[in-house]
Amino acid sequence: MRSPRDGRPDEHNDAATAEQRTSKGIESVVPRVMVVYGTRPEAVKMAPVVAALRERTTLEPIVAVTGQHREMLDQVHEFFGIRPDHDLAILTERQTLTEITVRALEGINSLVRKVAPDAVVVQGDTTTTFAGALAAFYERVPVVHVEAGLRTDDRYSPFPEEINRRLTTELASLHLAPTVANRDRLVAAGVPPSAIAVTGNTVIDALCTVVDRRQPYSDPELAEVLRRGRRVIVVTTHRRESWGEPMREALRAILDVIKDRPDVEVVVPMHRNPIVREVVVAELADQPRVHLTEPLPYAEFARLLSECYLVVTDSGGIQEEAPSLGRPVLVLRDNTERTEAVEAGTVRLVGTRRPVVRDALAQLLDDERAYAEMASAVNPYGDGKAAERCVAAIEELLGLGHRLPDYVP
Ligand code: UD1
Repeated sequence: MRSPRDGRPDEHNDAATAEQRTSKGIESVVPRVMVVYGTRPEAVKMAPVVAALRERTTLEPIVAVTGQHREMLDQVHEFFGIRPDHDLAILTERQTLTEITVRALEGINSLVRKVAPDAVVVQGDTTTTFAGALAAFYERVPVVHVEAGLRTDDRYSPFPEEINRRLTTELASLHLAPTVANRDRLVAAGVPPSAIAVTGNTVIDALCTVVDRRQPYSDPELAEVLRRGRRVIVVTTHRRESWGEPMREALRAILDVIKDRPDVEVVVPMHRNPIVREVVVAELADQPRVHLTEPLPYAEFARLLSECYLVVTDSGGIQEEAPSLGRPVLVLRDNTERTEAVEAGTVRLVGTRRPVVRDALAQLLDDERAYAEMASAVNPYGDGKAAERCVAAIEELLGLGHRLPDYVP
């Protein structure tokens, strides 16, 4: 029997193809689990799953990335010590949704045929997620969906993620729901309860590995900002539905608010997307007490979240990370699929309209009680053991064991 420890990280490229395995009559080989992802948030949330798969001797993990994000993916890999076995490098400048889908689908499908995995694991709701699930489905390979069951019920918001995750639900055989609410959404969509495990969100596992580290900031300007001890607002924005005017409006609201509050500084780790960057630079470059940075390495970003005063964002992952660090979050969206922290009171939806964002931000900065009400640490999303639950459920799917009890906050 081939040991799952053999052939990592790069030798999977020589691993037996489907045809070779059949012709050699390799029956006793340990099941291969191919993990597929392509963007930074998927990488962060898959890293704990890859680590947990690597602990197992019962499975052979294979990491395949589409490279939908290039630099931002490499950054995460470097931190978590992951060397992908396969890298499809599909990123193109200003890629369209169709280009990503076509290139990822073709690339992943031929990999699936070559590697012949026993299961393919995808995460979340990006175009890589959907293309990976479809590519596996076409080869009749069971699809495992990590972070299943998130919904806004608005097919255009977030775009195209809401549809990506609904389609991935249709394609998946095993649904790993972070929360009970996510499980309930899947059941309502017709997924059999026996095909769902409630795991907690793996982002909390990732956060647990970095949060006590106090990683030094590699950017001296950023280190200096934090040393000054003023109140720091962390701002991130990238969503397709906010491109252009909505993003401008929201950024202008932030400038309105900090103008007459000299004890407040703003840090904006910019997304690599040039369409986003053009707006952020046009609105915020050279503004007093506003600091634009390149995307931060994960451990530095986690430290920044833990040291800031509050967060203004349209990111999904940050809506999960910041509440567990006790940082209030204003979300630049009209809806969210992450309702648990909204219900707990640490996350508030403010949309992108300038007066609304401005008033919400001003209130949080000026009203200590309002701030304190949002700043209590809550953790509805996980206990740091989500990846273990995911892997146990995958083992069960493959007839190798039993899943763990569901996650309860
Ligand atoms: C993608 C996902 C989105 C996710 C987000 C997280 C889709 C359609 N969108 O959005 O769901 O929330 O990632 O960040 O799957 N670029 C680089 N280097 C990088 C990353 C991006 O140069 O490392 C540039 C490229 O010009 C690329 C553009 O950014 O064309 C946009 O990237 P893309 O993956 O299409 O969309 P995102 O906005 O990053």
